Amino acid sequence: MQEGLSEIQNQAKDDLAKAESLDAVEQVRTRYLGRKGGIINEIIKAIPGLPPEQRSSTGKSANMLKQEISKWIEDARVKLADKEQTSEAKEMFDLSLPGEHKPYGHRHPITQTIDEIKGIFRKLCFDIEYGPEVEHEYYNFDALNIPADHPSREDFDTFYLGNKRLLRSQTSTVQIRVMEKKKPPIRMIAPGKVFRPDTVDARHASMFHQIEGLTVDEGVSFSDLKYVLTLFAQSYFGQDVKMRFRPSFFPFTEPSAEIDISCSICKGKGCSVCSHSGWVEVLGAGMVDPNVFETVGYDAEKYTGFAFGMGVERLTMLRYGIDNIRLFFENDLRFLSQF
Ligand code: DAH
Repeated sequence: MQEGLSEIQNQAKDDLAKAESLDAVEQVRTRYLGRKGGIINEIIKAIPGLPPEQRSSTGKSANMLKQEISKWIEDARVKLADKEQTSEAKEMFDLSLPGEHKPYGHRHPITQTIDEIKGIFRKLCFDIEYGPEVEHEYYNFDALNIPADHPSREDFDTFYLGNKRLLRSQTSTVQIRVMEKKKPPIRMIAPGKVFRPDTVDARHASMFHQIEGLTVDEGVSFSDLKYVLTLFAQSYFGQDVKMRFRPSFFPFTEPSAEIDISCSICKGKGCSVCSHSGWVEVLGAGMVDPNVFETVGYDAEKYTGFAFGMGVERLTMLRYGIDNIRLFFENDLRFLSQF
């Protein structure tokens, strides 16, 4: 009988060593220690049938073996529970992994320029205004004193949506919307998208950004326009920037001017960005036409004002020496991450 017990002992040890899960350990426990049909219990039950001199020693050995196997089972359980828990925990949260690197993003260069220009004009006490991109013809043309036969109203210069709606081709629309709502004095800029069915090339896109400006008050003169735009150009391009005002025509300003700045890439010496002229046109501007004031119900005898409009892409290209407008819209991070 003793021999049989030590065989059982070895067998139980082997079985436990092979048990790789808590379920498998439980099966080993039932096989050896189960109340019904467990090997050890069967032996204990059989003791009364043994010759009297073997009964007590067999009983002792069987009990010792029972305790031993119980302990092994307990040890195996603890070990496996530990293992299962840590592998479960590992799946959820591996403390040893290095942190995931999430690089910071930043604003698009066009947004950066708009924000910077907003900052410059805020210091000059200008309000920031916005208008809709889908506009009525009235705001894009009629109210701006643009006659019905003006070339900018042609289909190939404006995206028409039907029913007198269009995608605005200039931010000058916001001048009218603001003057309809507010009484002078007015000092505002209006940044936003504009749309033109231009053939896309290095300098043209069918969507780009403008910033409109408008000041209306009693006694506003052309010298105020020059002063404000000079301050702006110096803040954006630096103190040594030179400006050139050229007479021009816009239906909503009289007199009108186009404003060039000395090319910031070549410092006026001439390069491909300024077509070797040393100057780049950045702004249209002028004194608000009295017809526009009449349309919005302002007293054109009492008030004067100046307006201006600038292209944001153009300004950004000049600042950084970018020679292709398409780069702004291709969403190529190799380009965008440089700003
Ligand atoms: N809206 C004009 C354009 O898109 C730019 C412009 C010119 C705006 C003169 C003005 C202005 O406010 O006074 O070409």
